[in-house]
Amino acid sequence: MQLTVTKAEKLKAKPDDSKLGFGTIFTDHMFNMDYNPDDGWHNPRIEPYGSFNMDPATMVLHYGQGVFEGLKAYRTDSGALQLFRPQDNFKRLNNSSRIMCIPQIDEAFALAALKQLLTVEKDWVPSAPGTSLYIRPTIIATDPYLGVRASYTYRFFIILSPVGAYYAEGFNPVKIWVTPHHVRAVSGGVGEAKTPGNYAASLYAGEQAHTQGYTQVLWLCGVERKYVEEVGAMNIFFVIDGKLITPMLTGSILPGITRDSVIKLAKLWGIDVAERKISIHEVFDAHAAGKLDEIFGSGTAAVISPVGEIKYGEKVISVGDGKVGPIANRFYTELTNIQFGKTEDPAGWIEPL
Ligand code: PLP
Ligand code: COI
Repeated sequence: MQLTVTKAEKLKAKPDDSKLGFGTIFTDHMFNMDYNPDDGWHNPRIEPYGSFNMDPATMVLHYGQGVFEGLKAYRTDSGALQLFRPQDNFKRLNNSSRIMCIPQIDEAFALAALKQLLTVEKDWVPSAPGTSLYIRPTIIATDPYLGVRASYTYRFFIILSPVGAYYAEGFNPVKIWVTPHHVRAVSGGVGEAKTPGNYAASLYAGEQAHTQGYTQVLWLCGVERKYVEEVGAMNIFFVIDGKLITPMLTGSILPGITRDSVIKLAKLWGIDVAERKISIHEVFDAHAAGKLDEIFGSGTAAVISPVGEIKYGEKVISVGDGKVGPIANRFYTELTNIQFGKTEDPAGWIEPL
């Protein structure tokens, strides 16, 4: 497939790298490609960043048939650009698409197109410490139709956004709320797909968390409301008595690429790591016994995010005196060193541009 490139006539002013937040600034160009049953995926193109003109009946707006990904491009000290496990993001995009009845994309082609877009936008990759270019590949259902069925037509697009830390707290510990009253996803549903509805389903409890001064919600399994699942934008790890524990993948949580990297690094370092069911009661009991060493989240946007406090019902515990723990710190340092090319890549995770 021939990829066409149309350059923007006027370029935007670049932001100050040292003041970047998350997800508010977008680059000059984007990637677009369309799907219909006759032509399959066709007309791949890089063109100026711009709005879509959509029929008000466009299906994604009504029924949420869409999928997306999140990955980052990093600038190394030498100025080179690199990606972290991008093949895994396009593989997961296809898995989400399968779950949401969206046609598969050619993963190798998508990665090549992304690299070409990044080459056009290379000056947008920031260089201040802790900053990167966030990449958002997305597929949406585009039929103008109000009946409920899978769309026949789709748009695949990729937009880019220079970012700093996802949480206002940066790498300082966040506070999370464990809600006994709400569920986000259940096994057999679409929890493991990166699809808009999972995030829409998290908003109501998220607002209640914010009202109480908590940053995000830690979800429990939808059936028993007992076993820990994941946080709104990251997977979760517990260090109990020196052992690392993370909820196993049961179909209702996102199989995080950062999660998988943490598990692989832990194995490489000889840290005891288990993927298993872990109940919220086990976490509170471990705290009562003085064995809850650390809690931290993992995600592309959140990187490694220490958790300093959790609230469940009326019970509040603080973890590690609200300070960043040594294990979270080790994963944060090693992962970011790999991503920014300061350390040797231990597992073929880096894709140079
Ligand atoms: N869980 C949810 C709900 C997420 O949105 C994310 C972010 O993508 C993650 C977990 C972490 O996944 P990853 O490490 O692949 O970014
Ligand atoms: C990511 O970490 O890439 C995410 O998608 C999390 C969030 C911004 C939805």
